[in-house]
Amino acid sequence: MTVLLALEGVTKRFGGLMALKDINFTISEGEIIGLIGPNGAGKTTCFNVISGTLPPSDGKISFCGKTIVGLRSNRIIRMGLSRTYQATSVFPKSTVLENVVRGAFSRSEDTFLGSMLGTRASKAAQARERDRCMAILEQVGIQHVYNDLAGELPYGYQRRLGVAIALAGSPKVIMMDEPAAGLNPEESKAMGQLIREIHSSGNVSVLIVEHDMKLVMGICHRIIVLDHGEQIAAGTPEEVRNNPHVIEAYLGTEVVG
Ligand SMILES: Nc1ncnc2c1ncn2[C@@H]1O[C@H](COP(=O)(O)OP(=O)(O)OP(=O)(O)O)[C@@H](O)[C@H]1O
Ligand SMILES: [Mg+2]
Repeated sequence: MTVLLALEGVTKRFGGLMALKDINFTISEGEIIGLIGPNGAGKTTCFNVISGTLPPSDGKISFCGKTIVGLRSNRIIRMGLSRTYQATSVFPKSTVLENVVRGAFSRSEDTFLGSMLGTRASKAAQARERDRCMAILEQVGIQHVYNDLAGELPYGYQRRLGVAIALAGSPKVIMMDEPAAGLNPEESKAMGQLIREIHSSGNVSVLIVEHDMKLVMGICHRIIVLDHGEQIAAGTPEEVRNNPHVIEAYLGTEVVG
């Protein structure tokens, strides 16, 4: 299996707080990996240092064999590494379709000058891009609201729009930060199904942070567990579920189901 994303000795300090301590893992082609841990364990921070939102304090991060530490977020998206956000993050006053087109902008074939001049080649490229974005909306099941304002969508649809925006970057790896947060059990199950479909139909590897253990245990090939910034376990869902360190970390917070 080809390794796509690799973290080696990644550390992140916020003043005196070690939010990540010596994190090491890889994601290969075709994998769905879970990143779990109690609140404040460092999961979102891990996404932030991978996606270029925050610089790591130490360690190496490579994507497709190239180091990505120090690269800007847009450059990392263009390389094929996209993410969704824990809090819904859409442009509320733009339509659903416009939000996805913005997500696609980084990979657009259109040139800035061409689009300013409105050339025929540019118009054709824009039409192709629009069709591609509509197909993505269809894939996530919200094509029927493409013209609605993103800020007025029901919450469950906003979560799906976040996934569509990330998919618009044509990722090789998609990182999802709590895609099922705030969803009811039925919607959460449907989100799990959508993630499976994205993985199988687009040959996309997935790194998922999620508190819904049923979802994580059901779709992940491997799971990495963080607690207080430390990687305390890694293995198959079965191994992780039975790991005493994991059970201890979760005691008093929630049950690893
Ligand atoms: N920008 C920041 N500045 C200072 N401290 C931060 C910053 N971001 C996160 N932290 C701290 O780092 C630790 C890890 O936070 P993080 O958001 O990564 O946890 P998490 O595992 O995503 O938690 P949750 O499950 O609640 O989303 C927490 O103690 C948090 O307060
Ligand atoms: Mg978080």
